[in-house]
Amino acid sequence: MPGTGSAPEVHDNLVLEPRDVRFDWSRLPLHWIPDEPFATHTINVLHLLLPEGERWFVRVFKEALPLITDEQLREEVLGFIGQEAIHAQAHEEVLEHLLAQGLDPRPYVRQLEWLFQRVLGERPGLSARARRENVIERVAFVAAIEHFTAFLGNWALNSPGLDRAQADPTMLDLLRWHGAEEVEHRSVAYDLMVHLDPGYLRRIRGMVVSGPLLVRLWVRGVRFLLAADPTLRGRVRPSWRAARAAALRGMLPDPVQSLRSGLRYLKPGYHPTQEGSSAQALSYLATSPAARAAVTR
Ligand SMILES: [Fe+2]
Ligand SMILES: [Fe+2]
Repeated sequence: MPGTGSAPEVHDNLVLEPRDVRFDWSRLPLHWIPDEPFATHTINVLHLLLPEGERWFVRVFKEALPLITDEQLREEVLGFIGQEAIHAQAHEEVLEHLLAQGLDPRPYVRQLEWLFQRVLGERPGLSARARRENVIERVAFVAAIEHFTAFLGNWALNSPGLDRAQADPTMLDLLRWHGAEEVEHRSVAYDLMVHLDPGYLRRIRGMVVSGPLLVRLWVRGVRFLLAADPTLRGRVRPSWRAARAAALRGMLPDPVQSLRSGLRYLKPGYHPTQEGSSAQALSYLATSPAARAAVTR
């Protein structure tokens, strides 16, 4: 069982295939949820955060590869690396579209580059022991963030409000394809962390650092996008009340549910397989236009 010091729990001989998806953003409206600029930009923060964030996951996991002594887990980590690299690329292409529409995302992206490459990057000059400790600590940060990406992925797969609001179908497919792969590989970072350090304190520290950091980056990202949107001229102000109201309309995950989800990660008996449905994720991937086109490519 995870967290008790015994062998890591590796589930169902997971085989993760990176799907080489492509999206055409040439017809994407700036507010791709019609008349919902706040919800649109709150979700758009993903496109700011994920390219740098997921490339950082990939670097951390490549650093962790030599520490893995379980062949099945090693295969899953390689599959995870392949999937996250494609996720980063897919979201980055949306940024080019925002720029073409007059919304320049680069000032915020530069801050994220500094955070993920400098502050959270590999530390040169460490002893072998300190280096191992540093890698495991960052794997624990990734595991905590992956709890939220799976939570958000599960929400994206179960968000009929976005369909009712006639959100752009290509963007919905991006969110649900990515969300489904997040649900599919939701255990990998956690299992890797437990494999390298089964201690409960490591897990807690990962969430205590990553949870508030993620919230802060998200809030800054929403503020940035609303201010940088040339059509809004600062008229839409972000607030927790607006976020809850949008959640009630089915446009966003509920902030309170998100917080509760973060707290579940701290339960002693937690494992990522307790949240979300692999069957639902695979069923979406079987029908996703982008994932289906990737099969024939
Ligand atoms: Fe991802
Ligand atoms: Fe992920």
